[in-house]
Amino acid sequence: MDNKLFSTYSIKDLTLKNRIVMAPMCMYSSENEDGKVEDFHMTHYVSRAVGQVGLIIQEATAVTPQGRISSKDLGIWSDDHIEGLFRLTSQIKSYGTKTGIQLAHAGRKAMVDGEILAPSAIPFNEDMKTPKEMTLEDIHEVIEAFKQGALRAKKSGFDVIEIHAAHGYLINEFLSPLSNKRTDEYGGTAENRYRFLRETIEAVKEVWNGPLFVRVSASDYHPDGMAPEDYVPLSQWMKEQDVDLIDVSSGAVVPARIHAYPGYQVPFAEAIKHGADIDTGAVGLITTAIQAEEILQNNRADLIFLARELLRDPYFPRTAAKELGVTIDPPKQYDRGW
Ligand SMILES: Cc1cc2nc3c(=O)[nH]c(=O)nc-3n(C[C@H](O)[C@H](O)[C@H](O)COP(=O)(O)O)c2cc1C
Repeated sequence: MDNKLFSTYSIKDLTLKNRIVMAPMCMYSSENEDGKVEDFHMTHYVSRAVGQVGLIIQEATAVTPQGRISSKDLGIWSDDHIEGLFRLTSQIKSYGTKTGIQLAHAGRKAMVDGEILAPSAIPFNEDMKTPKEMTLEDIHEVIEAFKQGALRAKKSGFDVIEIHAAHGYLINEFLSPLSNKRTDEYGGTAENRYRFLRETIEAVKEVWNGPLFVRVSASDYHPDGMAPEDYVPLSQWMKEQDVDLIDVSSGAVVPARIHAYPGYQVPFAEAIKHGADIDTGAVGLITTAIQAEEILQNNRADLIFLARELLRDPYFPRTAAKELGVTIDPPKQYDRGW
């Protein structure tokens, strides 16, 4: 049977050469604390492009300085960020790899100086700062920052935008009833809790008509929180808003014990894919080609996102091709060793 991992995947006008995606991973390495790309980022991301990854999604990149997880996060809140990002996307693309960026706001999980923002004034845990409950003006400002971030992402040459709505960061804090206790139109019902994401998607789409992914945390691992079945209607709404793919992760809205094992989040990707009839990405402890192939062949997800395995093996596509008995071309410089 033909393998699927090395089959192409198309969304809108974009075609990926394989289904292997580098999942966003914060590197906390903007050492100058100005959000700019530095030498490390070039080495780190371009190595995975040399390794033949189909799509690289750059780490959570902050749309406002206050929305950074740490002061060393990459940022896209200023036009000054475009030059470095453009250099990075150009290099990645020169190896045939497509580029994505995860636009993010850390909300109550921001560990930066000054005031931090969230839907409600509830800290993540006792060690973290108590956030300010966002006013309607704050809400509109952050949505505008996502839009400006998307415009800069376009100018920086990215092929895909992924909105970070997972892992207990700002958008996820609006979606979950555990962190959103608002009594206005942004809190209460699922539709109201979705409003912030809805308006963020609308704002991004005003300036971006390319492929759009949204990363969600499909389970809060809490009896009063969000469960995978709650994300089916939300994903239908995202589909109506022309989102192309849901990148299905889980957890981190509230402190909770997560029992993680190989492929533990794949059933969530599968439930959303079939429940909302939308493409999904599977992520989480996927480490071998056979495992990836099982997910794709059984139609449980459309793309395979890898994080830590790509830290260990930047040439994972080569490793995976060998495992599946497939031949993939190296960059021309590596012909003699591949
Ligand atoms: C060092 C590191 C940084 C991460 N940073 C991000 C991030 O910026 N955005 C995000 O959505 N997930 C982030 N994650 C989560 C990964 O994208 C991925 O979902 C998780 O590691 C599970 O996949 P894996 O088992 O292949 O590592 C990070 C994970 C690691 C290990």
